[in-house]
Amino acid sequence: MTAIVFAGQSYALADGESVLDALLRAGHAIPHGCRAGVCQACLLQSDEAPPANTQRGLSSAQKSLNYFLSCQCQPPASLSAQAVDQAGQRVSGVVREKSWLNQRVLRLRIEAPLDFKAGQYVTLWQSAQLARSYSLAGSPNPQNLLELHIRHYPDGAFSAWAAEQLKVGDALDIQGPLGQCVYSAPANQALLLIGMGTGLAPLCGIVQDALAQGHSAPIQLIAAARNGADLYYLDELSALAAQHPQLGITWLAQHANQATPPAVAIGDVYTHVKTHFASLKGYQVYLCGAASFVAKMRKQCFLSGAGMADILVDSFVPFATTKT
Ligand code: FES
Repeated sequence: MTAIVFAGQSYALADGESVLDALLRAGHAIPHGCRAGVCQACLLQSDEAPPANTQRGLSSAQKSLNYFLSCQCQPPASLSAQAVDQAGQRVSGVVREKSWLNQRVLRLRIEAPLDFKAGQYVTLWQSAQLARSYSLAGSPNPQNLLELHIRHYPDGAFSAWAAEQLKVGDALDIQGPLGQCVYSAPANQALLLIGMGTGLAPLCGIVQDALAQGHSAPIQLIAAARNGADLYYLDELSALAAQHPQLGITWLAQHANQATPPAVAIGDVYTHVKTHFASLKGYQVYLCGAASFVAKMRKQCFLSGAGMADILVDSFVPFATTKT
């Protein structure tokens, strides 16, 4: 049986139990969020080299300091660990704008001194214990504004707080940026970007970045949602497409309702992609949205000819304890 030594105490790990779960069970208030290796809220530092799989996504500096993701750690042998200075991993931001993009999606614009690439994501801290990760919409800008599209769940620990209590002028700690789903194609490679729901957020930034860098090959953006009323940014993106003939946009909803805008086609996104992009050989593909959507579409795009290295994804993982 392996054990985790933390704050001078040794705790046995149950079969299949992570270091995070063992320490929470022992009553230690270890910050955490996704429990899926995404948000990096659960960072700890080990006295010895931690298992390599627990350092995925960390910077070289963090790796060299033996930082590891405790939610991903089921060590093969006993391990000693300590808390890290979480404050040193974050910057402070100020909410400058709060508005609704539709009935379910809240837009925050937060001013923060953060260097990021369009398409990356950050972890927002509501308190020392509650954190959630959101993709950045838009590109770096002189105002240092980070734009986030937050799907509102009335019983979600973070999103309900953001919708009901967070105010313009409030300060918020931000960790990141994280993620590799960024524009990286040569200018003459065709791009296909598919976002489901708020998966549109990172794609907005990637499209802007590609255009700003002079991407000349066709850029096809598919913004999909369950209902037409869930789609947003129709006017803004249509205006962008009008200025850039290489950009084409398809709005797609699985179901129509009274609020479905006329520009929105009704149909299944998998069928649509199969029909209109029968061969994806040579494309660079970006997929953003719920993990189940990303996994299924990734397989479909690969089977249609896209190289695995040319399929970049931003997969929204569900949080284990509460909805976001
Ligand atoms: S990475 Fe461990 S809780 Fe999110």
